[in-house]
Amino acid sequence: MGKTLSIGVLASGNGSNLQAIIDRIEEGVLPARISCVISNNVSAFALERARRHNITALHMDHRIHSGRESYDAALVEALREHDVQLVVLAGFMRILTPVFLDAFQHAVMNIHPALLPAFPGIHAQRQALDYGVKVAGCTTHFVDAGTDTGPIILQATVPVLPEDTEESLSTRILVEEHRIYPESVRLFAEGRLHVEGRRVVIS
Ligand code: GRF
Repeated sequence: MGKTLSIGVLASGNGSNLQAIIDRIEEGVLPARISCVISNNVSAFALERARRHNITALHMDHRIHSGRESYDAALVEALREHDVQLVVLAGFMRILTPVFLDAFQHAVMNIHPALLPAFPGIHAQRQALDYGVKVAGCTTHFVDAGTDTGPIILQATVPVLPEDTEESLSTRILVEEHRIYPESVRLFAEGRLHVEGRRVVIS
């Protein structure tokens, strides 16, 4: 294991948050290395982004496993093989079981496109629009057994404008995601995140 933090990224789709983390690492402002990117979706653009930066890109198909636990055990094994210390979920569309979470306690991070605890689950931006909130945003958090319920690391807000569509709001939120996700990983890499019950204390 090297001196810089070893990250494993799990992604199912576009991977723009993965890209933001890659970019900060390459700029030298994020003291970490991405040891592998794993996707359950063979055509995820996140895998292509990884390859373009000479990062190990693995397709692991959940459908060949008999259940969630079996798939999660395979994920843990692959991440261990790559000496991963922090797991970063970047649009990973799978629910993780305790098999996975117990293996990486307080070492799995997620980003959610809403100001948690408001609007957990899927279509968070649409939920925010439908509810009529005036302020939206995004949240980074450690992952626990619930859906988007783990201790909050950072949040950022954006205005909701009268003419907003789900797409325009999502785009505005993504700009903030690309800022706070690498920042959250940096705080972890610097050993500055301390989980005390529900609260994440930043030193
Ligand atoms: C982001 O909106 C993130 O908040 C959510 O999934 C989306 C992933 O986007 N968890 P990308 O794949 O990083 O572009």
